[in-house]
Amino acid sequence: MLELMNHSTSKSPLRLPTSSNSANTSSLAGSCIDKSFSVPFRHRVWFCDDVFEGSETGCVSSILKECFADFDSDATPDTDPAKVQIWIDDQIADANPQWVDSLQQAIGAMGHLRLVGPAERIVGGEECKIDEAISERILERINDDGLDRRSYIVAVGGGAVLDAVGFAAAIAHRGIRLVRFPSTTLSQGDSGVGVKNAVNSFGKKNWKGTFSVPWGVVNDYALLRSLPDGDFVSGFSEAVKVSLLKSTEGFVSISESAAAIAAREEAVCRAVIEQSAELHLLHITEGGDPFELLEARPLDFGHWSAHKLEAVSGYSVCHGRAVSIGLAIDVLYSVRRTGFQLTDAARVIECLLQLGLPVWNELLDSNQSEILGGLEEFRQHLGGRLTVTMLADVGHPVNVHQIDHEIVSEAIEVLGNLHRAATAAKEAEGVFCVADFLEDVF
Ligand SMILES: NC(=O)c1ccc[n+]([C@@H]2O[C@H](COP(=O)([O-])OP(=O)(O)OC[C@H]3O[C@@H](n4cnc5c(N)ncnc54)[C@H](O)[C@@H]3O)[C@@H](O)[C@H]2O)c1
Ligand SMILES: [Zn+2]
Repeated sequence: MLELMNHSTSKSPLRLPTSSNSANTSSLAGSCIDKSFSVPFRHRVWFCDDVFEGSETGCVSSILKECFADFDSDATPDTDPAKVQIWIDDQIADANPQWVDSLQQAIGAMGHLRLVGPAERIVGGEECKIDEAISERILERINDDGLDRRSYIVAVGGGAVLDAVGFAAAIAHRGIRLVRFPSTTLSQGDSGVGVKNAVNSFGKKNWKGTFSVPWGVVNDYALLRSLPDGDFVSGFSEAVKVSLLKSTEGFVSISESAAAIAAREEAVCRAVIEQSAELHLLHITEGGDPFELLEARPLDFGHWSAHKLEAVSGYSVCHGRAVSIGLAIDVLYSVRRTGFQLTDAARVIECLLQLGLPVWNELLDSNQSEILGGLEEFRQHLGGRLTVTMLADVGHPVNVHQIDHEIVSEAIEVLGNLHRAATAAKEAEGVFCVADFLEDVF
């Protein structure tokens, strides 16, 4: 039997036999060739304040040179330049045309690349994931421009645009190199550094999608400056989420800097985004299940209700805000069922409120049975038994396989009362203490 290069890992993401790297078995019933193999991936994420710094002198930044370096190919000097196609969220194209020009110039200045045309605009926000004609259009352009597996697709945008363009890039030719420039706090700290992409189908979020490792990700802080305040703070719910799952110190640092984040202090925001990106990246690269083959989906903490709330609201509640509400529900649930301290739940809710994020929405009351139906959708998506991540402590997630609907309803009711009390206190310019409120009612 042929022996190929073998990069076996000690940790298999699948619960398959790993000891018999090469096993041939036969029995009366038939035979089986059973081989395990692993594919080494490289995941590169750069952070900078301005990726075009110094470009006035005609230089291309080292980040862009490295990002587009053809380290993986057999290219020779007479190989045709690799084609590059750019897709850009239309809000950035409008708010920051200079940035788009600079990107086109930088790509044009790299001899081994050839831009196939000016940047293509794409409608930003959830609409680009809902409208199937948009995915079709991206695929058509990829085909019309004759992109191949050595080409680059560059996606500049929020999580929605990165998801839609990333999905097309992943399925065209079974995968074209994708370079992401995330342009929202959420995408720089979470989705843009992930290995997933998806569009919505059958009225369900992310129904159609793939796992695919991007060629490179450039988190340019300059892109975030044109974000409206509401979109800016909404991304920090994912930073809170991942810190609750992975890092006690990380959660403390977000809690302590919540007011500074809401005020958009750049040094603080950048540090928190970088911490969030790093925790997500560590989960993907070292968590043992990058492509989510196992039943647990820890990064989806707070998401079972969030995804449903987004859909029920017709996507007027954005992902980041829905996740904030989902986290508030699940920390209260964790107090009742998995030993999470009430004082810690109060700290989480206080932090979300200080960030300027919601912990309740009236649709939770009017559409409660539909929201609870999100649990069944979650189970169907995972297959097998329901597995939802809750918290035993900050930094200590725990999986549960049943959700008590009555406790969820109680949590929603308490959050509704808390929301009203906090709003009234704010209007009266009074003080509202989440811990005292919860101590009294929960
Ligand atoms: N693939 C993943 O792993 C993953 C993880 C988390 C979230 N997501 C997805 O990400 C999406 C949410 O992404 P998001 O929170 O980044 O928001 P978004 O992409 O929906 O963008 C929000 C709004 O901001 C605009 N915008 C984007 N960048 C801008 C900028 N720099 N200046 C001005 N306006 C700008 C967009 O046009 C849009 O109107 C959801 O669809 C969610 O499901 C995916
Ligand atoms: Zn999310």
